Amino acid sequence: MKQDMIVILDLGGRNNTVIARTIRKLGVYSEIHPHDISLAKLSQLPNIKGIIINGGGNNLVDGVKIDVDHRIYTAGYPIMVVNHEPAEAKNKLPNWPESEEAIKEILHAFIFNVCQAEPNWNMKNFIENQVDLLKKQIGHKKVLLALSGGVDSSVVAALLIRAIGKQLVCVHVNHGLMRKGESEAILEIFKNQMQANLIYVDASKRFLSKLEKVSDPEQKRKIIGTEFIRVFEEEARKLEGIEFLAQGTIYPDIVESGTKTAGVVKSHHNVGGLPADLQFTLVEPLRHLFKDEVRLCGIELGLPASMVYRQPFPGPGLGVRCLGAITRERLEAVRESDAILQEEFEKAGLDKKVWQYFTVVPDFKSVGVKNHTRSFEYPVIIRAVNTIDSMTATIEPIDWPILLKITDRILKEVPHVNRVCYDLSPKPCATIEWE
Ligand code: XMP
Repeated sequence: MKQDMIVILDLGGRNNTVIARTIRKLGVYSEIHPHDISLAKLSQLPNIKGIIINGGGNNLVDGVKIDVDHRIYTAGYPIMVVNHEPAEAKNKLPNWPESEEAIKEILHAFIFNVCQAEPNWNMKNFIENQVDLLKKQIGHKKVLLALSGGVDSSVVAALLIRAIGKQLVCVHVNHGLMRKGESEAILEIFKNQMQANLIYVDASKRFLSKLEKVSDPEQKRKIIGTEFIRVFEEEARKLEGIEFLAQGTIYPDIVESGTKTAGVVKSHHNVGGLPADLQFTLVEPLRHLFKDEVRLCGIELGLPASMVYRQPFPGPGLGVRCLGAITRERLEAVRESDAILQEEFEKAGLDKKVWQYFTVVPDFKSVGVKNHTRSFEYPVIIRAVNTIDSMTATIEPIDWPILLKITDRILKEVPHVNRVCYDLSPKPCATIEWE
């Protein structure tokens, strides 16, 4: 089933994302493209039913006035222009109204009355379209993917397995800072159930030895990032005939990394930084999706909900939760206490209510008593926060009996721990992670 599409050309309008989301809510697929896309490239996009040019024709980028390729106006597509009035444009709209309802009404009239689009956007059709496009793009060649087990890389893997099967080579690097059972779950789902061509690299010893005695948080992050690229690069060099590199880039990553009309929020670098002789052509089939859509795509592709709806987990993993210089003893304490927390939150239904929850083990000890004798051991800190955009966060009040049960289990089951604390700090002043 072919799905209809409305293209939004980003001419510096601030509402691109709202427009795209609203059109999709109305049941029609939409993609945002940069303003300087050529007519030739635009015409290659499948099933365009109409175009929205969003932004002022007098916008300046680096001091230069920007506009779209003027041939687009006369190419025969229904076009709506917002806040920009070239003589060629037929459907002009000086500016977007304030309310969401009013925006929706305008878009509804344009996409259904003017463009005659069908409301046929759903995940099944999206996947079918992507599978077609990927098959065309890749042919019989091979694609490499760093499969971390996070939502985005997992969904990309599942989509590529559907499209090209064993031509996809997944590399899962276990840096030794994964949560309990995480690498095993990745192997079970992708290798055993989905029959993926999956290379598993246990690099935990290597990472831990590089991190030995390193206590500065930024230094730790740098080492983990650099080492990850090195391990991945070594694996890539062993493989032959790889032409493409797949990445789980999603639309918010593109926005945050800066578009042609907006500045950089933070740069994303999944496996960027590979040496020049290992430059592959990128395959990014999720680049037009928002996070909630990526999750729906994963479910449609048969991934388990536990993988698709999992909480965010930082790239440096438990490394930023085992504070200061990492030791095996404390790393195990983080991993085991985290597993207990996950289990008890799931039992209490809090996994659906709390956005992110984990434990932290600091690099100092406190005095306690265990079995009637003095103990000198580590504390475990519980952190549970809610946030919309991770820029600010509030702490989640957890029922006392649940916290007491978790405390009791951690003290009984996790070696080298004699104290459990609950972190009450919102962001700001604190951040979500401790390092
Ligand atoms: P902070 O600690 O900055 O965290 O309040 C905000 C969110 O980002 C996650 N986080 C990371 N995610 N790589 C990631 O992919 C990282 O290096 C990283 N550091 C923090 C954190 O878990 C929280 O969800």
